[in-house]
Amino acid sequence: MVVQNLVKTFKGDVKAIKDISFEVREGEFFAFLGPNGAGKSTTIQVLTTLLNPTSGSAVVSGFNVQKDPFSIRRKIGVALQETGIDPSLTGRELLHLQARLFGFSKSDAKKRAQELLELINLTDDADRKVGKYSGGMRRRLDLSLCLVHRPKILFLDEPTTGLDPYNRNAIWDEIRTLNRQFGATIFLTTQYLEEADQLADRISIINKGEIVASGTSQQLKKTVGMDVIELTFHQREDAEKAKDVLEPWMKDFRLTNEELTLYVDNGAIFLPEMVRKLDGEGIPPVSLNLAPPTLDDVFLRVTGDHLEEKGNRQEGVVSK
Ligand SMILES: Nc1ncnc2c1ncn2[C@@H]1O[C@H](COP(=O)(O)OP(=O)(O)O)[C@@H](O)[C@H]1O
Ligand SMILES: [Mg+2]
Repeated sequence: MVVQNLVKTFKGDVKAIKDISFEVREGEFFAFLGPNGAGKSTTIQVLTTLLNPTSGSAVVSGFNVQKDPFSIRRKIGVALQETGIDPSLTGRELLHLQARLFGFSKSDAKKRAQELLELINLTDDADRKVGKYSGGMRRRLDLSLCLVHRPKILFLDEPTTGLDPYNRNAIWDEIRTLNRQFGATIFLTTQYLEEADQLADRISIINKGEIVASGTSQQLKKTVGMDVIELTFHQREDAEKAKDVLEPWMKDFRLTNEELTLYVDNGAIFLPEMVRKLDGEGIPPVSLNLAPPTLDDVFLRVTGDHLEEKGNRQEGVVSK
């Protein structure tokens, strides 16, 4: 998949994607990580030929999205964020219908529906109406519907948003299997940095219609170029005092209630000195953790904002 200088502008001059370029290799697990409104769904809709780009080009499975949309549609599976599934049909009926739409004979469609119901562990609920399914069951069904014609490229738009950890992990396992066992190329969008971190071979971070960073999770974290020290204090006043005391050593900080996060060079060397200082001030931390940067730290460095909202935060950059 090759995307070059892709732009999508909606009526009213809404620039949903502004000149993005990237490549996804065959068999690769690629994640598009970004907050709400970043342009993820718009990108998926262009790549799956549901929306025309305003300018730029996209080639999927060797076909141009504008010149050859029907060839692309046969090769790909798509699970969109908003699906128009009929709630009065059962899971089995929907899978059967989908298979028939893809040209399966009645008996093949029946077989394929059963196979997929087994794959996603939905056999017990196969004959219940989809309107009665839980969120997790719906997502598993969405996933199975896009697999009916055994596509080699899957587009999954926020497949786990709003799911509890149990269902999220079930979906993760399914997608991993599709990628590793069946060699499917995966293009997944997510707002969850942990999801991108855990699943993807490569990640592009998208913000306000622009790709702001790309690489493996390791490469992206290295760009932060600093260690992260997380400190928890008894109370917020202590955390604030600690921030003032440690200011000369840190590059950035984040303060959230009684938690102080510091960005420093050479964290391991700085740590003992820091503990002595805090002891001397009578504000020993309750807990202390030296961690490598997370993708949130990457996002923070490139956009100045957090990816995942965490309430009350005071933050700043120490000018040096
Ligand atoms: N059909 C549309 N018409 C006008 N604006 C749209 C349309 N679809 C999306 N947008 C706008 O484009 C931007 C990107 O949206 P979207 O691609 O849905 O982001 P994401 O999926 O990352 O949350 C948002 O500002 C959104 O409001
Ligand atoms: Mg979206």
